[in-house]
Amino acid sequence: MAAWGQGNYYEALRACRATTTEYAMAILEAIQVWKEYGGSGAVQVPALRGVDALVETGEFLAIMGPSGCGKSTLLHVLGGIDQPTSGRVLLDGQELGSLNDTQRSIVRRRRLGFVFQKMNLLPTLSALENVALPLRIDGVARKTAQNQAHEALDRVGLAKRLAHFPHEMSGGEQQRVAIARALVARPAVVLADEPTGALDSANGQSILLLLRECANQGQTVVMVTHDMLMARQADRLLVMHDGQITKTTALLDPLPTPTSLPR
Ligand SMILES: Nc1ncnc2c1ncn2[C@@H]1O[C@H](COP(=O)(O)OP(=O)(O)OP(=O)(O)O)[C@@H](O)[C@H]1O
Ligand SMILES: [Mg+2]
Repeated sequence: MAAWGQGNYYEALRACRATTTEYAMAILEAIQVWKEYGGSGAVQVPALRGVDALVETGEFLAIMGPSGCGKSTLLHVLGGIDQPTSGRVLLDGQELGSLNDTQRSIVRRRRLGFVFQKMNLLPTLSALENVALPLRIDGVARKTAQNQAHEALDRVGLAKRLAHFPHEMSGGEQQRVAIARALVARPAVVLADEPTGALDSANGQSILLLLRECANQGQTVVMVTHDMLMARQADRLLVMHDGQITKTTALLDPLPTPTSLPR
């Protein structure tokens, strides 16, 4: 693939897929996605302007770009949390826009794990209950859900904070609870919006290793970050400016498979 890493990955991958069976179907695809905020009377803000993006199964993709360029909006649209103004988003080849609200929330719950930039933990639930919640909503028995939530919190180094409420935890601990919640159902796709933004470098590295491990085990990870050191551990980097993807770079030195996470 001559064009790999040369900035036109999308076209190159499409061309490859047309001529070989080497590539499985992309797990996530955005086709000419536009997103404008603001309704009648308000000033229209074009947050996404014709984005084409393709994410392969098992890929670890990083997204960078200046504040306000549309990174969170893209992640929300890819995850079916926001609807594009125009264009299509496909998950496993199925257009999210063709699903009704109930179908879309089932897909989100079962196939996607989302780490929000603002964390969105429920203040009246403990760490364990926050993490167990998506499983409980999906009908998993209380004990099983709690066991899985405990395991997920252990993976982010918070086994000793199960009963703590969000206001009893530091910003970094809350962020790790949010990450545990996104991973607890072992979703096919993890969409993480600045998952290390509130963390010190040691905890940030641990979370990055965890996300890398998820990708190495076949989950697909899309991570927004402002930190180039973090982004370099991904397989590929998308750079955004002003609502558009302006650069795509294959990153050649991902971490080796981690065998254990630092605590
Ligand atoms: N709900 C909204 N209503 C109106 N405008 C919005 C809304 N959400 C985002 N925007 C605008 O859309 C643009 C993209 O926002 P977005 O949150 O996607 O940026 P970002 O790249 O994630 O920035 P940051 O790095 O600061 O998190 C910005 O100009 C922002 O002001
Ligand atoms: Mg953002």
